[in-house]
Amino acid sequence: MPSLLEELKEIEVAARSQLAEARDDAALEEWRIAYLGRRGRLTLVLRALASLPLEERRKVGAEANRLKEALGAALAQRQAQLEEARLTAVMERGRLDVTLPGRPRAQGRLHPVTQTLRDVLHCFESMGFQVVEGPEVEWDRYNFEALRIPRDHPARDMWATLWVDYEKDGERSMLLRTHTSPNQVRYMEGHQPPIRIVVPGRVYRFEATDPIHDWMHTQVEGLAVDEGISMADLKGTLAEFVRRIFGADRKMFFHCDYFPFTEPSMGLLIDCVVCNGEGRLRDGQGCSTCKETGWIEVLGSGMVHPEILANVGYDAERYTGFAWGMGIERIAMLRYGVEDVRLFYQNDLRLLEQF
Ligand code: DAH
Repeated sequence: MPSLLEELKEIEVAARSQLAEARDDAALEEWRIAYLGRRGRLTLVLRALASLPLEERRKVGAEANRLKEALGAALAQRQAQLEEARLTAVMERGRLDVTLPGRPRAQGRLHPVTQTLRDVLHCFESMGFQVVEGPEVEWDRYNFEALRIPRDHPARDMWATLWVDYEKDGERSMLLRTHTSPNQVRYMEGHQPPIRIVVPGRVYRFEATDPIHDWMHTQVEGLAVDEGISMADLKGTLAEFVRRIFGADRKMFFHCDYFPFTEPSMGLLIDCVVCNGEGRLRDGQGCSTCKETGWIEVLGSGMVHPEILANVGYDAERYTGFAWGMGIERIAMLRYGVEDVRLFYQNDLRLLEQF
């Protein structure tokens, strides 16, 4: 029968090699119970000491106690080792390199046309105009008939039209509105003077595009109706608009024009900012933005035709009004010096990020 000392040696070898194999908490606990638990191998040796003669009890007892402490320490060390390995694995998985540069956050901003639209609306709001809106798909009646543009009249040729539903002789023809002017009639039908409104919105035309025409653009319609409104009010209001949006140095002039719904009608022109009113660029090339004229029309305007006032039930002897319609893209072009209106809707960030 092997002596207890030999058994202790054997226990130590087995315990150490098994401990090195333990890979998790459950395995460690199992190992602890097997060697140091109440019925563990080492515990049984310690219990057996009592029956030994004194001399041997001292020798074996000292060795058994040393082993008990050594195994306890080995267990603690193995536990720490496994914990360290676990933490390292976690760190590896979610590694964070604080020296890397941050990812830039893309910052949004308003489209230049939206910015310009808001500035224009604020300008008129501060002069007492109220913002209202109307539908983009419009009846023939509002887009044309009620504005004195009857069917088969040549005035219709001024608007290249995108029809949604066309009935030749019926009342039900629908189109994408070609201008915001229908809202003059829509608003007057539901309200009495005094009226001061601006109507922003998109309009659509069946149009070949060039640097200053696109098939869709944004307009702001204006309408003021009251007793005693004159052309001086129209000029004063629009001159103030030009001063505020383009600055005091901009040259402008009104020229005669024709619109079926105003009498008289005028166009408002501003000197071209791309060529500075020269009609030619610095390299001698003709300026395509103003078609080499040096001027750009920013809006059409006039005194509301009395027939239109009478048709919505107003007393046209008592009330007069002025109206205008302007293209916001064109104003944005002039303001920012963009040569081609089509650039606004190509979604090229290299352009859009400049504003
Ligand atoms: N509706 C016209 C257009 O789109 C612009 C216009 C001209 C509007 C004269 C008006 C106006 O209100 O009085 O070309």
